Amino acid sequence: MKYTLLVNKENKIKDNYKCNLISNKNELGEEFQVEETTYNNFLLLKEYLKELNIYIDIDDSYRSIERQEELYQYFLEKEGQDYCNNYVAVPGYSEHHTGLAIDLMLKVNNEYLRDDMELLNSKDEFKEIHKVLHKYGFILRYPEGKESITGYNYEPWHIRYVGKLPAKIIYENNLTLEEYLTSFGTVLYINKPKGVTSFDVVNDISKKFGIKRVGHTGTLDPLATGVLIVAVGSACKVVELLTSHDKEYIATVELGYSTDTLDIEGKVLERCEVPNNLNIEEVLNSFKKTYLQEVPIYSAVKVNGKKLYEYARKNIEVELPKKEVTIKEIELLEKTNTSFKFRCLVTKGCYIRSLIRDIAKELNVLATMTDLVRTKQGNISIEETDNIDNDFTLHSIANSLNYDIIKVDNLLEKKISNGMKIDNNYNVKDKVIFVNESNKLLGIYEKEDNYLKVWKNFN
Ligand code: DAL
Ligand code: ZN
Repeated sequence: MKYTLLVNKENKIKDNYKCNLISNKNELGEEFQVEETTYNNFLLLKEYLKELNIYIDIDDSYRSIERQEELYQYFLEKEGQDYCNNYVAVPGYSEHHTGLAIDLMLKVNNEYLRDDMELLNSKDEFKEIHKVLHKYGFILRYPEGKESITGYNYEPWHIRYVGKLPAKIIYENNLTLEEYLTSFGTVLYINKPKGVTSFDVVNDISKKFGIKRVGHTGTLDPLATGVLIVAVGSACKVVELLTSHDKEYIATVELGYSTDTLDIEGKVLERCEVPNNLNIEEVLNSFKKTYLQEVPIYSAVKVNGKKLYEYARKNIEVELPKKEVTIKEIELLEKTNTSFKFRCLVTKGCYIRSLIRDIAKELNVLATMTDLVRTKQGNISIEETDNIDNDFTLHSIANSLNYDIIKVDNLLEKKISNGMKIDNNYNVKDKVIFVNESNKLLGIYEKEDNYLKVWKNFN
């Protein structure tokens, strides 16, 4: 179930939309239907508010298209077209069709208020209610000041279940669901667990945020753990900048055999005796250089439009491409007669499995990677990462990049938001990040002659 489903004036409910609706009666004995998880969270919210002496109940939740049609006609006759435009959705375009929206009624002095005007006047109660909605996965769907984005007037009574993480972000950043789904962006520093693909992590995060656009920067194989930087929403625009950094790894190597994948997950191809006088340290040090590295056959690198591992699986011969990589730092950490562990700092595109194969060739022995931890990507180290099952720290796009951040006034904000060229008064050599006075990311610009031109707009 995708709880961040968007239904508004532009987005109609899908004909085949289904959810788990349950039926119940409110305290006035009126029947309603509501989506199950939404209801369970509503009950918790209701319980909590009781402790604050605020009494709420469900006035209305799920509506069929026919029911919305009746309501629309009723309000059209009673209040007129203008009122409908501002308060009542055209049948098919109401988020009440999702079962995830609830219109609250409020019990004051033993009487339930449900009239729009009465509810609009219950400012104190709603102030308290709106403060805690996110803790139960709800948002205030049509807030004051956001009418031009939501298309509706302020409705203090209309709450919408979106799930706890989206609700918290929407609340804390003063967003609407529209803004959350289209312009919100954040960068996550994840510690990838062993045994899952980078793609699994991305999928998981996409589900947790209820946002489709999620991407990772620099694949880690299932065997590998450590720093995986994930871009959510509009942060996907800067994936290439986040990927281009140097990366630090700690790798463990077993000597005496080779596999087809170059790591312990593969099929053993060959075995050999391990001589006991290997000068591992010296050979490792000799790899502090720039060289042409052959990419592993078990990789997603494409040759003639096909991924290399597809050639491998079908046993088709293919010439493996070579890529220039630089090993900036390399040091031996531990060794035994049949294994060793090393740390290295390498440029983008370097495969540690391939590096180990090349080191082994130099040592005149067979070797296989048995463990790999990415300890750093750019400035981001493993100590700063979150586990996938915990709460995430949301890093701003601007702070995740290694460029100067410049705060601009209203006049420049307008120009930047429109993607206009501006003078390079900042001595920018490559790229620069512009934010407005409230630190909202406006755009990333790059130098062109004496000017700065837009590289990515975040308007
Ligand atoms: N009152 C909201 C906009 C609806 O009719 O769905
Ligand atoms: Zn409503």
